[in-house]
Amino acid sequence: MAKARIFYGSTTGNTEDAAVMIARQLGDAVEYVRNIADASVEDLTGAEAVILGVSTWDDGQLQQDWESFFPQFDEIDFQGKPVALFGLGNSDGFSGQFCDALGILYRKIVQRCGKVVGFWPSDEYSFEASGALVDGHFCGLVLDQDNEEAKTADRVRRWVDQIRGELGL
Ligand SMILES: Cc1cc2nc3c(=O)[nH]c(=O)nc-3n(C[C@H](O)[C@H](O)[C@H](O)COP(=O)(O)O)c2cc1C
Repeated sequence: MAKARIFYGSTTGNTEDAAVMIARQLGDAVEYVRNIADASVEDLTGAEAVILGVSTWDDGQLQQDWESFFPQFDEIDFQGKPVALFGLGNSDGFSGQFCDALGILYRKIVQRCGKVVGFWPSDEYSFEASGALVDGHFCGLVLDQDNEEAKTADRVRRWVDQIRGELGL
């Protein structure tokens, strides 16, 4: 069985909390959880499976630590490595750019030949537009701690059940 490394960027702690929640659910299948601000290219390339968490800031932009890391993706060839993504956003306050950063990360991982798994239905969320939509599905788990915190634990549980097999954990 493969082991996953989880990387997150988080400004107010919401994505970090979600990363820890996901790690707890996955138990021994997780090698470590690391802030992307403290991660190297080798940390990502050396993983058997990768889980990346990003929040959206500044009207549809990557969280700041992801923004800083982003150019380094061009040194990474994921070569079919399984990658699962999760994103945090605010569907009410930023309804027109809901979790856009998740889509930015998705497109970069695909460009670097990663195999993105963990697509997630969008129909239980209310928003105007999202850059995280790919063929009508979110390209990863979407969480909204600002408006739907009560739904987070159940969403994480269901998504983790889904990605366990998809990541080969
Ligand atoms: C100034 C500001 C800008 C934001 N921009 C967006 C946005 O464009 N889209 C979105 O979905 N959420 C947006 N959010 C909501 C955050 O993504 C959300 O609060 C998230 O849970 C923060 O996670 P973090 O603490 O891990 O960074 C914004 C929040 C703030 C305060």
